[in-house]
Amino acid sequence: MKSDKKRIVVNLSKKMADLLPKHIARLLKMIGRKANEIGSSAFVVGGLVRDLLMGFKNIDLDIVVEGDAIELGSALVGDLGAALVAHKRFGTCTILTKEKLKIDLATARKESYERPAALPTVEFSSLKNDLSRRDFTINAMAVSINRETFGQLIDFFKGVSDLRHGRIRVMHDKSFIDDPTRIFRAVRFEQRFGFAIDGHTQELIQNAVGPERMFEHVGPQRIRDEVILILKEKEPIRALKRMEELHEFRFIHPKIKFGRDTERSFRAVGEACEWYEGANFKKRAIDKWLIYMMALFKDLSYNDLSAICDEFAFRRRDVLRMLSYKVRGEKSIKALSETRKIPPSRIYSLLNPLSFEATLLVMAMSSLLERRNGSLANSRIKDFFQKYNGVTIKLKGDDIKRLGLKPCPRYKEILRKVMVAKLDGAVRTKTDELKYAKSLIDEICG
Ligand code: CTP
Repeated sequence: MKSDKKRIVVNLSKKMADLLPKHIARLLKMIGRKANEIGSSAFVVGGLVRDLLMGFKNIDLDIVVEGDAIELGSALVGDLGAALVAHKRFGTCTILTKEKLKIDLATARKESYERPAALPTVEFSSLKNDLSRRDFTINAMAVSINRETFGQLIDFFKGVSDLRHGRIRVMHDKSFIDDPTRIFRAVRFEQRFGFAIDGHTQELIQNAVGPERMFEHVGPQRIRDEVILILKEKEPIRALKRMEELHEFRFIHPKIKFGRDTERSFRAVGEACEWYEGANFKKRAIDKWLIYMMALFKDLSYNDLSAICDEFAFRRRDVLRMLSYKVRGEKSIKALSETRKIPPSRIYSLLNPLSFEATLLVMAMSSLLERRNGSLANSRIKDFFQKYNGVTIKLKGDDIKRLGLKPCPRYKEILRKVMVAKLDGAVRTKTDELKYAKSLIDEICG
C-alpha cells in the first residue's frame, strides 16, 4: 500500500542491535527470513517497539503477520526445535523455544465488538487495521523484520510524536467502551513513563467510568489482573493516586480509599521489602504486589475482604495469605511492640503462622507506630527472619518412642516444647533435646 510506505519514519536496526539481547535479535532475523520464504510480511508490534524507541530493554516478542501466522509458526518450529500451540479460529500461535522463550504470532486482524466489553469478533486483515484496533498510539507501532526491510519503523498514528510529547492517546473514541481494562493501562503507562493522559482521552475515561458505568461490564477477574499489574509497577503509589483521582476504587469496594494513610502504609511496605531484599539470610521469593494489595485492603473487615476474594476470584493461595494478616496481623503488631521483654519462642509463635508477605506487612505497619514501640517490633521481626525462622530440632517421633512413650497425641506437644526450648536457648544439642524430652515424658507419666 502506497500510503503505508509514507509512514515509515526511521530505521531501528541499530537500536535493535544495541538494545536487544543478541539471541533475540538473531531470532527476529530468522523469523523475518522465514516470512520471506513463505511470502508473508512479519512485524514486531506493541510494547517492544514502544520500549525500543524509548531506549528501554524489552523482550516481549509479539509478532503480527500479513499472511498466515500459523503457517509461519509451523515453518519456524522445525528450525528452532521448539513447541507450537496454535489457535486456528483466531489465526494465532505461540512458539515456546527450548530456552523457554515465548513468541506470540498473530495473523493481522480487524476486530469488532458485538457489545461493549465483550470478547471481539475477529476478521483477518492488514497490518494497519491490526494496529488501529489497539489501545494507545504509543502501543500501535510496528517494526518490519523481513529481510529487505528489517528495522523499518511503521507509525500510522503518530505514535512517535506522542512518545516525544509524553502523551497517552487512544486510537478511537470507543476504545474504553470496547475494552474498559484500558483505563487501568492508561494510568499504568502514564505513571510508569511520567507521561500525561491526553485531555480528550481523559474525558473518554471519565465518560466510561461515569455515565457509561463500564466497570460494571468487565469480568471481576480482568479487573483483578489489572490491579495486580499496577501493584507490580516499580512505583505503584503514583498510579494508585491517579486512579483515586480518576475513578476511585468503588469498583472494588466502596470502603477502599487511597488516601494519606494508605499512602504512608505503602511507603512503609516499600521500605520493609527493601530491607528484606537487601538483608542477608536464607530467603524465599515474595510477592510484593500481594503485600501492597493487603495494605490497600487493610481497613476492611474480615467479611468484606473474604467477599472481595470471592468476587474477584483470587487464587486460594493468595486468599489464605491475605486472610492470615486479617486474622493475626494486628494482634501480632500489638504483641511485638510491647516494651516488656518477650522470648524468641513467643516472637516465633506470633509470626510463624503468617505468610512472609503478611509478616512484612506487620513489619511495615509496626514501623508506623510510636518510635520506641515501632523499633522494638521491627528488630523482633528482623530477628524472626534472620535467626528464628530457620531453627529446627533434631528430635523425632522415633526418639520419643525409644524413650518409652507409646505413640499418642502428646508427641506433638513434646516436640513443640522442645522447639520452644531450642528457640529460647535452653537446649542446644540433640543430647540436650533428648534429655529435655525425657524430663517431659517423666512428667507426663508422673
Ligand atoms: N493491547 C491492547 N489493548 C489491551 C491490551 C493490549 O491494544 N487491552 C495491545 C497493545 O498494542 C499492547 C500489546 O497489545 O502494546 C501487548 O499487550 P501487553 O503485553 O499487555 O502490553 P505491553 O504494551 O507490552 O505493556 P507492558 O510493558 O506492561 O508489558
